[in-house]
Amino acid sequence: MNRTSEDRVEALLRQMTVEEKIGQLSLIQSDEGRISNDLRQRIRGGRIGGVLNETDPEVAREIQRIAREESRLGIPLLIGRDVIHGFRTVFPIPLGQAASWDLDLVERCARASGREAAASGVNWTFSPMLDIGRDPRWGRIAETFGEDPWLIGEMGAAMIRGFQGDDLSSPEALATSAKHFVGYGASEGGRDYAATFIPETELRNVHLPPFERAVEAGTPTVMPSFSDLNGIPATGNEWLLTDVLREEWGFDGLVVSDWNAVQELSVHGLTDGDREAARVASGAGIDMEMASQTFAEHLRSILDSGELPLSRLDAMVRAILRVKQRLGLLADTSPEALPPAPEPDLDLAREAAAACTVLLKNHDSILPLAPEALNSIAVIGPLADDPYEQLGTWIFDGDPALSQTPLSAIREEVGDAVRVEYERGLETSRSESRERFEAAMVLARGADVAVLVLGEESILSGEAHCRADIRLPGAQEALVRAVAETGTPVVLIVMAGRPLALQAVVPHVDALLFAWHPGTMAGPGLSDVVFGRVAPSARLPVTFPRVSGQVPLYYAHRNTGRPPTPESVVSIDEIEPRAAQTSVGNTSFYLDAGDSPLFPFGFGLTYSDFAYENVRVSTESLRTGDSLTVSVDLANQGPVEAVETVQLYVRDVVGSITRPVRELKAFQRVLLASGETTTVSFDLTTDDLSFVDRHNQRVTEPGAFHVWVGGDATADQMATFRVEDGS
Ligand code: GLC
Repeated sequence: MNRTSEDRVEALLRQMTVEEKIGQLSLIQSDEGRISNDLRQRIRGGRIGGVLNETDPEVAREIQRIAREESRLGIPLLIGRDVIHGFRTVFPIPLGQAASWDLDLVERCARASGREAAASGVNWTFSPMLDIGRDPRWGRIAETFGEDPWLIGEMGAAMIRGFQGDDLSSPEALATSAKHFVGYGASEGGRDYAATFIPETELRNVHLPPFERAVEAGTPTVMPSFSDLNGIPATGNEWLLTDVLREEWGFDGLVVSDWNAVQELSVHGLTDGDREAARVASGAGIDMEMASQTFAEHLRSILDSGELPLSRLDAMVRAILRVKQRLGLLADTSPEALPPAPEPDLDLAREAAAACTVLLKNHDSILPLAPEALNSIAVIGPLADDPYEQLGTWIFDGDPALSQTPLSAIREEVGDAVRVEYERGLETSRSESRERFEAAMVLARGADVAVLVLGEESILSGEAHCRADIRLPGAQEALVRAVAETGTPVVLIVMAGRPLALQAVVPHVDALLFAWHPGTMAGPGLSDVVFGRVAPSARLPVTFPRVSGQVPLYYAHRNTGRPPTPESVVSIDEIEPRAAQTSVGNTSFYLDAGDSPLFPFGFGLTYSDFAYENVRVSTESLRTGDSLTVSVDLANQGPVEAVETVQLYVRDVVGSITRPVRELKAFQRVLLASGETTTVSFDLTTDDLSFVDRHNQRVTEPGAFHVWVGGDATADQMATFRVEDGS
């Protein structure tokens, strides 16, 4: 921040009493659409620094007016909200947006969401969520950008650019909050809020990088996770919040606790009561307390007793004032009226829904459907025509009245030329009743194609909504089999907030589209893909297991000393009774699920076919500081123009700590016409090959490296090179 801004903050800080300073540290729940007398008094008395969950523009404007005109120092409030993947217009859930592998799209969706929220008076969003999503049992995987730290970091930076724009003081900009710092995605057993045990090298090589990327991208706030991190919950973890975040990374914004997380330090068992929780959290690096009021109630006595130095209080308030200054809230001139609410960007929502939908199976190229070749379509399933359920989790402000569903969009697309009939089949995604199966089968028998829209209701993912069995819920698997038994071709569209274990249904369908929760324009976006207006280009940002028991299952795993081989992976059905203990090859796999996922990270089909040839490197020997170019020849050998997401993976074959068998280092989305070929090149530096070693030093070690370029994490086009010793 420039000198003038810093001076303004310092000048204000010097005027503040201790009570006013403590007041800035409280972020409290709003009265949601009204201003209670208590809230009014607290604002007048300078006893809160912000509210969350106020989205009535008139109330927001009045709150800010009271703060500016009726409090002694006139410091406006932060007004925070979870603007996660939309506001009134809802875009695909973040896990779905990650499937687009389109950073520009993610930025545009954030920009549109932020503009809608800013018009309601919101000036701070609790996004991006940068947790590593490697356990689909965890309900919050829906909010992640998937399993790969580098891709998550790039997606998070794009979302920050979208929400904040080029000028954070713009009335349409929202301050972002990188959350949940750190390791929340490793919650034991995929159970939300469960403990995490993560060695420091794993923290530094996997969980911390997306947050460091967010700090580089200019996020002004960070939110620690609820979770217990190696015995010290993040909210009270000084190593994390001060040593790493502030001293190593130089972060100078504010750290806001998650909801009640300060008070919950005593539930964790780190502290004994609110006063100790306030002391530990404020001392560790929390600046602003969300919801619970331990700072408001105890910080004065903690300061008076000398348990917390006044300099730390000043640092906390300075961080908050800095964010307000960057938002333009401390400017002398009172704010213009709130920006006008933009028209819902339904075109963008439609584009995003299509771009995030992954084509996982397309037997005999049944897709795209050609209306002119069809007389009738049977649409079946509880999620085919539900304006709310297609929106997904964390959509407090989503407006289902804006939603256009798959059923309505299919009808719109084919018009009167094709008969489209609908049978819900199941009341909800969790229903076990099969009483409407016969009606669904009758419909399917009379149709040229059956389009099933199944999956998870939105409430089955998101915070505190974890599942131990991640198959299609209820009797949906049985519904797929029943419709398939009619012999009518089946196109299955799945809406869900997590990867599902779909091994039981894939054989029974001709085509499979995974749409996550696609948001407001789920219908038109999916219809564009189903009827070929848009060739699917999405790729999986997360590994799909065959069965729940394989989890956690991710591509960037360690090799182990006994990796599976084609010979050693034996099916449970192949083992002779009383076989010798060493009858299988003593390698790492499951007798009843093998050693591979159902669909790998990076996987996705399109309506064309791409071929990779001749992966090559510009040099086979690098010295530190050098770079090399990796190139591949790519051909669109299929019938239509399409986008291929070309992915580059690297393996550091030998390291001073073992390295993953592959790591995504770059990707390019390449549009090729049918028959077109091109050469795709990537530049890699020795820094790109670095990792944090056992001494917590970032190093690029000499030795052999493998590099693959292809369409997913199983790419087999490989080249090799070395980093020379002593270089
Ligand atoms: C929630 C979530 C956090 C959210 C906050 C405010 O419990 O953990 O992601 O931003 O509270 O709603």
